[in-house]
Amino acid sequence: MLSNNVLKVSNVSKSAGNRVLVNHLSFEIREGEICGFVGPNGAGKTTLIRMITGLIKPKEGQITINGIDIHQERVKALSQVGAIVESPIFFPYMSGRDNLMNLARLHPGLAAEDRNKRVEEVLAIVGLQERGRDKVRTYSLGMKQRLGIAQALLGQPRIIILDEPANGLDPMGIRDLRNLILQLREDYGITFFISSHLLDELQRMCDRFVIIREGNLIWQGTKDEWLKEAGTQGLEDHFVEMMTSR
Ligand SMILES: Nc1ncnc2c1ncn2[C@@H]1O[C@H](COP(=O)(O)OP(=O)(O)OP(=O)(O)O)[C@@H](O)[C@H]1O
Ligand SMILES: [Mg+2]
Repeated sequence: MLSNNVLKVSNVSKSAGNRVLVNHLSFEIREGEICGFVGPNGAGKTTLIRMITGLIKPKEGQITINGIDIHQERVKALSQVGAIVESPIFFPYMSGRDNLMNLARLHPGLAAEDRNKRVEEVLAIVGLQERGRDKVRTYSLGMKQRLGIAQALLGQPRIIILDEPANGLDPMGIRDLRNLILQLREDYGITFFISSHLLDELQRMCDRFVIIREGNLIWQGTKDEWLKEAGTQGLEDHFVEMMTSR
């Protein structure tokens, strides 16, 4: 059955030894939403993202993509997910296009005869068609990040998960990335789940927020709800208050 919730995280926990990294987290993201995922360093964001992208398994709980359990039907669920977790790793001495062709070969959802066409398509979508033949080592960080998004788009995902995508980008690079994300939502209805420490930046593009601290859910809701709660204080001060009080 198709679910309106593209991503559903139910009661998910993870520990390392006797340390709890993620503690019974639950939240849902609807189709076409852009959700910001925030929390201080070490809060457990990357740990949760690695579970959502199938890199590690939860100790407890369930994660579904469009209603499909990622641990019971891993390939089917993950075929609808595109991601950049940590920085995308590309071979610097290969061209952007060849890097994508390599990744396309590993992609379970992409038939051999469609690879070339899809690689050209995703290069065009992220605005790299002119530079596709150049070696990745000649790319700026912003271009590498766009190549990362191109990689995430290969399998025509319903949701794209980005772990701190704006890291190290200059203001123009950040704006380009934001416009690309908004465009992808507009053109293809892609849902986004984006971790970042840049609250102002997230506020410009997100409809929803999930806030964690020490593995625990602190707050979740729409941007408007958060803005209302923060009032004249603004999101940043309100965030700091949430992190130090509740
Ligand atoms: N495999 C592991 N074994 C032990 N501890 C781990 C492991 N992976 C992560 N941790 C710890 O879990 C906590 C959460 O880490 P995580 O990387 O998920 O945080 P984060 O919210 O992504 O932080 P940041 O904003 O700095 O990226 C950290 O204290 C980290 O040291
Ligand atoms: Mg992290």
